[in-house]
Amino acid sequence: MTAVLLFGATGDLSRRMLLPSLYGLSVDGLLGAEVRIVGTARSQIDDAGFRALAAEALAPHIANGLGDEGRAAAFLKQLSYVPLDATDMSGYRRLHQAACGVDNCGAEQISIFLSTAPSLFKPTIEGLAAAGLAGPNVRIGLEKPLGTDLASSAEINDAVAAAFSEAQIFRIDHYLGKETVQNLLAMRFANILFEPLWRADAISHVQITVAETVGLEGRVDFYDGAGALRDMVQNHMLQLLALVAMEPPARSDAESVRDEKVKVLQSLRPIDGRTAPSHSVIGQYVAGAVGGQPVKGYADELGRASGTETFVALKAHIDNWRWKGVPFYLRTGKRLVTRKSEILIDFKPVPHSIFGEHVQGMQANKLLISLQPNENISLKLMAKVPGLDQGGIRLREVSLDIDQRNAFAEARRRIAYEQLLLSLIEGRQTLFVRRDEVEAQWAFIDGIRRGWAENAMEPRPYTAGGWGPSAAIALIERDNASWND
Ligand code: BG6
Repeated sequence: MTAVLLFGATGDLSRRMLLPSLYGLSVDGLLGAEVRIVGTARSQIDDAGFRALAAEALAPHIANGLGDEGRAAAFLKQLSYVPLDATDMSGYRRLHQAACGVDNCGAEQISIFLSTAPSLFKPTIEGLAAAGLAGPNVRIGLEKPLGTDLASSAEINDAVAAAFSEAQIFRIDHYLGKETVQNLLAMRFANILFEPLWRADAISHVQITVAETVGLEGRVDFYDGAGALRDMVQNHMLQLLALVAMEPPARSDAESVRDEKVKVLQSLRPIDGRTAPSHSVIGQYVAGAVGGQPVKGYADELGRASGTETFVALKAHIDNWRWKGVPFYLRTGKRLVTRKSEILIDFKPVPHSIFGEHVQGMQANKLLISLQPNENISLKLMAKVPGLDQGGIRLREVSLDIDQRNAFAEARRRIAYEQLLLSLIEGRQTLFVRRDEVEAQWAFIDGIRRGWAENAMEPRPYTAGGWGPSAAIALIERDNASWND
């Protein structure tokens, strides 16, 4: 018998992702009818109230053809709810009972998913431990933000480590649950084609873009205290960078993969007071239009002026043999022109053109890995333009495309959290972030923030609905490259 405990069960993440994901697993027979799903949060609702909230969360998925009303009704029966003030120890005993029934939980597998405010991490862990919910049969998933810098993240990690061993701790970065992100591993390591070229000899630079059209989405306080660097780069983008740049692990198990990722993260060249102005650009959106709709500027949405960045672009380097001299350009922002996440590998030109120096159309190869919303891998190759070519051969770039959605049209598209919750329940850690990775990520980010402070760098305004401040374009064009817009 297994139990799943959801902290923050009435919150946005739970409604949009966690409850639909658990339901998805249940529809596929991956979550038995005997599994108890216990929600907990501060709201004073009862089991019926929680089931009603869950029913509302599942409705759009059922309308989309996931299971049916009968299936959903059976799933809802598995849910129960315990109101809990995280700092009141007595609530944890009720939680223990809801998870374990009247028996002792000894043999039961308990998976806890913690998505609460960082200030509640410590008391929650203490409460769980005091109530006997931290034994070897318990696994704990931790949702970000895990701190706001290296020191506060270490504090949270220490508090968790006081009750749980690293093998029980599942730090979530939901990008790792995305199908297309996992596909990076398949692309790199299940094909022989790329690996020999995957290095400084053949690659001129790498770009990682995570562009969003949304603005604050009501997360005013959280976002203004975080900013784009800590909200997106510290976690998702550095994980993408690590997956692109890591050495081939010997196996796909959690330790082999994470050992390689952490080496990359620890090899990031610090961006500091000396290099922050030339290697980073920050921006904040002002009023504009996105998708034809006028939108407010950030300060207006917030209701006051703020120095928080909603856009960041970086030029990063990985100081190791493989990536010597290869810049990794990263950019992410809110209220940009389009929503897209992608990785571009820009190869070097051929060492010598047999067609002469001035042949028309010659360009270097590119590999474009689109993660969302398109799920596409596109290899840009040179081809001959058909014709008699009296004036010499003419070349043009053509794409070799794999559209994942077409190639796997029969497969249901999963929510990233389905994969993550299933891995948590089954105890597989490959898609979770180890403590040393998180800390290497924070060390890099803290250095950048110190660099901004030392140079009194302020976000540059950019119009909502564009590609961010023009300085971000200059950042890459100075090196004779350009963003893939
Ligand atoms: C979250 C950030 O981690 O990722 C959000 O806090 C951001 O600000 C979101 O919008 C993006 O996730 P996705 O899956 O929509 O790309």
